[in-house]
Amino acid sequence: MPRQSVLVLDFGGQYNQLIARRVRECSVYCEVKPYTISLEEIRAFDPIGIIFTGGPNSVYDEKAPHVDPAIFTLGVPVLGICYGCQLMAQALGGEVTAAQADTAREYGKTETFYDTGCRLFKGLPESGISWMSHGDYMAKVPEGFALVGRTEACPNVAIADEKRGFYGVQYHPEVNHTEHGVDMIRNFLYEVCHARGEWTMGDYKDTAIAAIREKVGSGKVLLALSGGVDSSVAAALLAEAVGKQLTCVFVDHGLLRKDEGDEVEAAFSRWDLNFVRVDAETRFLLKLAGVSEPEHKRKIIGEEFIRVFEEEAKKIGAVDFLAQGTIYPDVIESGAGDAAVIKSHHNVGGLPDYVDFKEIIEPLRMLFKDEVRQLGRELGLPEYLVSRQPFPGPGLAIRVIGDLTKEKLDTLREADAIYRQEIAAAGEDKNINQYFAVLTNTRSVGVMGDGRTYDYTLALRAVTTSDFMTADWARIPYDVLDKISTRIVNEVKGINRIVYDITSKPPATIEWE
Ligand code: XMP
Repeated sequence: MPRQSVLVLDFGGQYNQLIARRVRECSVYCEVKPYTISLEEIRAFDPIGIIFTGGPNSVYDEKAPHVDPAIFTLGVPVLGICYGCQLMAQALGGEVTAAQADTAREYGKTETFYDTGCRLFKGLPESGISWMSHGDYMAKVPEGFALVGRTEACPNVAIADEKRGFYGVQYHPEVNHTEHGVDMIRNFLYEVCHARGEWTMGDYKDTAIAAIREKVGSGKVLLALSGGVDSSVAAALLAEAVGKQLTCVFVDHGLLRKDEGDEVEAAFSRWDLNFVRVDAETRFLLKLAGVSEPEHKRKIIGEEFIRVFEEEAKKIGAVDFLAQGTIYPDVIESGAGDAAVIKSHHNVGGLPDYVDFKEIIEPLRMLFKDEVRQLGRELGLPEYLVSRQPFPGPGLAIRVIGDLTKEKLDTLREADAIYRQEIAAAGEDKNINQYFAVLTNTRSVGVMGDGRTYDYTLALRAVTTSDFMTADWARIPYDVLDKISTRIVNEVKGINRIVYDITSKPPATIEWE
């Protein structure tokens, strides 16, 4: 039986990959394609359903993206979200206007009422919070459509033409803030598109392996391996795809956590793959000397990584492909498409303009962290590698605030090791998704053994999150924090004060730089 697929048509919204991820979560295969894809290509793709994403435009803007109206004659159900909803309404003869101030313009969490007789809301509560983000308003709903969702301010936040299988919602069902949003997507897939729900991460693995083989052919691949979850999963995937054509290069840039270099080497040397460890501490620290601006640090590290890989590739000879374990949040936060740059993740925005490889392969580019872990398990990676907390490519360079020295890095390494030991000893590591210490550049006065100290302040960071795009600070018990603080101040020279970071993301980010 041919595979069922859903097409997500991308109109430039912020949450497009999140929509795709929700579809995968419902066990249905999907692909995100630009809205410019031709009707013939859509026909060839043969989707069981099409989802129009949101987007930053207004449908009546001159340059607003549009679709070929013939898409509505394919006999394929369509779910339009936000801009996608307005686009569909307009294309089918409705009317969309800019909402007059304070009438139908809505942003954020909004109490919404649903018609549960509609297939989209089947089996769901009659009301709930939805996440709105629209400045436009459907003044006239197209013929054949019924109003199936409303808010206090707006009578038509959800519309449906059940006969043709066309649905439009002004809010974002794909974000966590929308209660039962995933269930609405599931209803669209199962009740409307008759999905069989056969897709699994195992299928993703097979598809990714086939795609890598096709691209690489008999070429050689060099993988930038950090030993973190993402690059380890990428290593396993590539090893399965191209075997010994792959060489994993682990760059020890001197910015790793305590004992990490040896641990990574021990873990990977047990596998049957080409593994190279490069000791590059001196060259990285030289390049970073005197640099304190976070984006500058990231760019230097990104560039230096590539230069090391290029040198290693020359030693191997005829390496065409550089592979990286980039995942979706790295892509979006580095500013993909119209999204703003939050940080240049070293393996995306930190890349130098010139890279001496024919091509870069990023097989995890569309996956979220928890999906990567799932894939890792599918590939048979050991649990301790798959469930490791994330560690950023630029390493401790972005956890020592301001300019870097080896001495500061060593201080941070010691303090961070104690923090991690105590969190694990207290069993808190099961509740926290990421935790680490940050050496601030603030010094303050303390008193130790009757003497004055003037030492650094260390910040402890711990967050709970499912996707690392948003996060809450973890409620670590006071007595655990107390033990950590006491041990660090007593055991680590150069630190005399500990603070605990109680900001969520947003408005803060997880890392400090
Ligand atoms: P932020 O600080 O942006 O971090 O909230 C989100 C997640 O990404 C990790 N992170 C990085 N990972 N290269 C990476 O591979 C990077 O440059 C980078 N910067 C942040 C961070 O540790 C958190 O898990």
